[in-house]
Amino acid sequence: MRKLTYYIACSLDGFIGDPGGDGSAMIRFVDEEFLAFLKAEFPETVPTQGRRALGMDDLPNRRFDTVIQGRGSYDLALKEGITSPYAHLREYVASTTLTESPDPNVEIIADDLVGKVRELKAEEGEFGIYLCGGSKVAGELLDEIDELVIKTYPLVYGSGMPMFAAGFALSEFTLESARTFGNGALVSTYSRKR
Ligand SMILES: NC(=O)c1ccc[n+]([C@@H]2O[C@H](COP(=O)([O-])OP(=O)(O)OC[C@H]3O[C@@H](n4cnc5c(N)ncnc54)[C@H](OP(=O)(O)O)[C@@H]3O)[C@@H](O)[C@H]2O)c1
Repeated sequence: MRKLTYYIACSLDGFIGDPGGDGSAMIRFVDEEFLAFLKAEFPETVPTQGRRALGMDDLPNRRFDTVIQGRGSYDLALKEGITSPYAHLREYVASTTLTESPDPNVEIIADDLVGKVRELKAEEGEFGIYLCGGSKVAGELLDEIDELVIKTYPLVYGSGMPMFAAGFALSEFTLESARTFGNGALVSTYSRKR
């Protein structure tokens, strides 16, 4: 069974962006030390354009071979004219309004999102599935998430876009590892208690 991992940047108070979803205030914490960590541990989570700019094009995937994002997150790439933001992964975009995929590497999931994710999880393979976000899709897939990798940056937003757009329900996770960085960032990995 392949794991679905929600790998996400968030503020100390659990927001993945400002009320409109913009998380660009967190980018300042991607310094030399943090970037070295990303290159070593999660190179495939850096979008294709960023990989190119950072000279990471040749780095092999370490954990994931597939990415799932909602149309809201995918829109950010589309607005930049990028139709395949994670060209080094199999890309799935959840959307009921994108009737046709804008890119041959991107498959649209229009209905039965949970069923499709279960199908992907049931595939054979050593690599997992990167749930990129955003909030709505993560909320819909909360019960399917096997692992959380949370990049917490030392910022308080006060309000903003939550990690999950979901109703109240407790889900328990076990802390597997935590790594701190000189700039106050923290990357914590949790597995779901089943
Ligand atoms: N901090 C971080 O690391 C991080 C990471 C990723 C994203 N983000 C932020 O998250 C924001 C976007 O989040 P969001 O919550 O607004 O949107 P989202 O979750 O990315 O996408 C929501 C859209 O996904 C589609 N969708 C949701 N559930 C579906 C289902 N069951 N079946 C089919 N389609 C479904 C719908 O698209 P249609 O309307 O087309 O039907 C829905 O409008 C962006 O602003 C981005 O900056 C932050």
